[in-house]
Amino acid sequence: MNREDFPILDSNIVYFDNGATTLKPKCVIDAMDRYYLEHTSNIHRGDYQFASITNSLYDNVRNIVADFVNADPKCCIFTSGTTMSINMVVFGYMRKFLKAGDEVLLNKAEHASNILPWMKLSEESGIIIKYVPLDSNYSLTLDNIKKCVTNKTKVISLAHISNVIGDVRDIESIGKYCLENNILFNVDGAQSVPHIPVDFKKCNIDFLSFSGHKMCGPTGVGVLIGKSNLLEEMEPLCYGGGMNSYFEDTSKYELKSVPTKFEAGTPPIAEVIGLGEAIKYLNRVGMDQIQKYEKNLKAYLIDKLSGITNLIIYNEESDSGILSFNIDGVFSQDASVYLNNYNICVRAGNHCAKMLKDEMNIKNTVRVSLYFYNNKEDIDKLVNVLKSSKNIFDIVL
Ligand code: ALA
Repeated sequence: MNREDFPILDSNIVYFDNGATTLKPKCVIDAMDRYYLEHTSNIHRGDYQFASITNSLYDNVRNIVADFVNADPKCCIFTSGTTMSINMVVFGYMRKFLKAGDEVLLNKAEHASNILPWMKLSEESGIIIKYVPLDSNYSLTLDNIKKCVTNKTKVISLAHISNVIGDVRDIESIGKYCLENNILFNVDGAQSVPHIPVDFKKCNIDFLSFSGHKMCGPTGVGVLIGKSNLLEEMEPLCYGGGMNSYFEDTSKYELKSVPTKFEAGTPPIAEVIGLGEAIKYLNRVGMDQIQKYEKNLKAYLIDKLSGITNLIIYNEESDSGILSFNIDGVFSQDASVYLNNYNICVRAGNHCAKMLKDEMNIKNTVRVSLYFYNNKEDIDKLVNVLKSSKNIFDIVL
């Protein structure tokens, strides 16, 4: 679908590493080029024409982002990506309000960005991290979450879609449960916002993070969305120009209101413009279409792979375009080097979810992560190459 929009696909690669980053359509590259070639300027500082073009493009992206996930534009903060967004939540909000003994529920399928900030906060303040057990197919369920909740549970933090197992967590039900039980709900949308419709308000999410580069946009830009009352209380992690209304030699200063107080210094202007263009592009393709297309493509992939006897698939049932597997007896990175010989790009390793091995009893996997520009020919190529993987050691050694 829409392959012609992605110039890099002319190079004949089969790109299956969309969980790590996606390819960029020409319209996104052009929008960023236009900023650099036609109206380079800073934002919210200049009174000349270039600056006013840039201001209005930049400011409008907040509306585009808000519409995309059903949030209030004033509650959308531009960050450098999901990792920064989650760090802002943990160190800007949770550090202020959580105290020793308060419990935060995580799970062992989360990637580093939704584990390490919590570990650091736990070290500092004595909050308790509890890991919700995964079920037999490694997915996270509300039932298991409920079993771990106590009267000390203050936060549930999870990825909407896990980046290795690819299970789509039922964030609408979990959000409802959080609301009823007065628990804060932090959602990492890095693997979901690009692939399925996400509704911030409907799911009662308190904080939602995602990255531009995993949704056809540029690297270096992401989003944090929070409920307005929480953002009012959240502290910025970064201080400087653009986010203050005044400061004086008595050390008195005043910050601007949300979201500006969280965007100190010159922001990634070209990248924000590129993100806006990427979202407009995804809207043209259609998020419902993307979800349906990926689901069908994943079914095709599983069907084709099931004929290969030496393949172990770990997440056949998961409802996203992420598939993790191993070739029996082959180190996952050897498999990805082998696939690279045929111009097939996958990711191998632990995928930053370094605790998942405790649950799965394997260290690493090969991951195919699909996007809407992948097609059945891509999959046929992968399957043919995997079928002849008996030669793998001739190639990688
Ligand atoms: N979390 C990203 C991935 O899954 C980097 O590849």
